[in-house]
Amino acid sequence: MFWNKLLAIDLGNKNIKIVEGKQQGNQVIIEKATSVATPLHSYNDGQILDKESLKSIIHGTLEASNIKAKKTICSIESTSIITREITLPNVKEGEMDSMVKYEVEQYLPIMLDDYVVEYKVLNEFEEEGVSKSRILVAAIPKLIVENFLELFKEINLKPYVLDVNSNAISKVFFKKLKVNQDESNLEKTIGVIDIGHNFINVDIISKGIVQFSRLINSGGKDIDINIANHFNLSLEEAEKKKINDSNIEKNIGLAPSTEILNDAVKSSIDNWIAEINRVFQYYTTRSTGNKIDKLYLHGGSSSLKGIAPYMHSLLNMPVEQIKDIDKIKLSKTSENIKIANYLNAIGAIIRLGR
Ligand SMILES: Nc1ncnc2c1ncn2[C@@H]1O[C@H](COP(=O)(O)OP(=O)(O)OP(=O)(O)O)[C@@H](O)[C@H]1O
Ligand SMILES: [Mg+2]
Repeated sequence: MFWNKLLAIDLGNKNIKIVEGKQQGNQVIIEKATSVATPLHSYNDGQILDKESLKSIIHGTLEASNIKAKKTICSIESTSIITREITLPNVKEGEMDSMVKYEVEQYLPIMLDDYVVEYKVLNEFEEEGVSKSRILVAAIPKLIVENFLELFKEINLKPYVLDVNSNAISKVFFKKLKVNQDESNLEKTIGVIDIGHNFINVDIISKGIVQFSRLINSGGKDIDINIANHFNLSLEEAEKKKINDSNIEKNIGLAPSTEILNDAVKSSIDNWIAEINRVFQYYTTRSTGNKIDKLYLHGGSSSLKGIAPYMHSLLNMPVEQIKDIDKIKLSKTSENIKIANYLNAIGAIIRLGR
């Protein structure tokens, strides 16, 4: 009965996002979506630190939400996962594998034996009469893969794929789609930015094809630390204050304490923008004509009040939080979720070419 349903888990440093759904043609149907705080000190940057507490929180959440799908895709992000875009001449089918491995061994600072190497062809093109492919390579430490396999098997799930967030996002933006009613994304270059707790993940997607992804070591946590210092609060209290009281869009007639709060939020975002700008510059200076037209935000910290207009004013391009994507259909039980919180998990459900 549940054979075609998939379970997708986006294991974040702050929250575990869980989605049950299925792909139907070009659409993704979301049956259930729920999230739960990642237990403290149980997980960090791709590394499982406390398997037992992760097992029990995931298992408990699946039971509480009556999620029955077993076939599991987990999406993660980690500074120890290496992704690179490489260009190779096209070779006969079957030879690409060894060629990619050879390239990785030559040019990446890793021992191949310690990594699982995956790749996909982004696009094919001709250069000086030679047909070539642009290939996205991901090298994931074997230890990470094995630990995840073990974790899911021990809670009776069937691990199917270990995905990386930027790949999950690239699948959402592949082919025609409408984001917040805008249909023109296939003609544009867009920046899709996941603002989480520990990390910001920047994906640059041009005409539906991912150009590259970069992980920035900043996120909502920076603001919590900032607020905690300014107001002498615990990190937990600071986070609450951030979510409930800050609004960086309003700046007139504010009480002095609200002004201090908003400034604390803004100073962190200013740092993020500087980092994001560096990533953009890498792209725009790489080839003439490269230009980013629009930014879409997702991840928990994309819900900061006023963040989109604030970034718009500093980056000088349209910025929107992702609110609605036409190919993502929410069922009755999940109709109230914020898509921006679940986009990695939703993208993980999409399987291209299968
Ligand atoms: N309404 C809100 N306003 C402001 N910040 C929010 C809001 N809701 C959540 N956040 C912040 O979003 C962050 C959590 O987001 P998310 O769940 O995407 O992180 P994560 O995926 O666990 O982290 P990472 O991607 O870094 O591993 C926290 O810093 C939290 O305080
Ligand atoms: Mg995240």
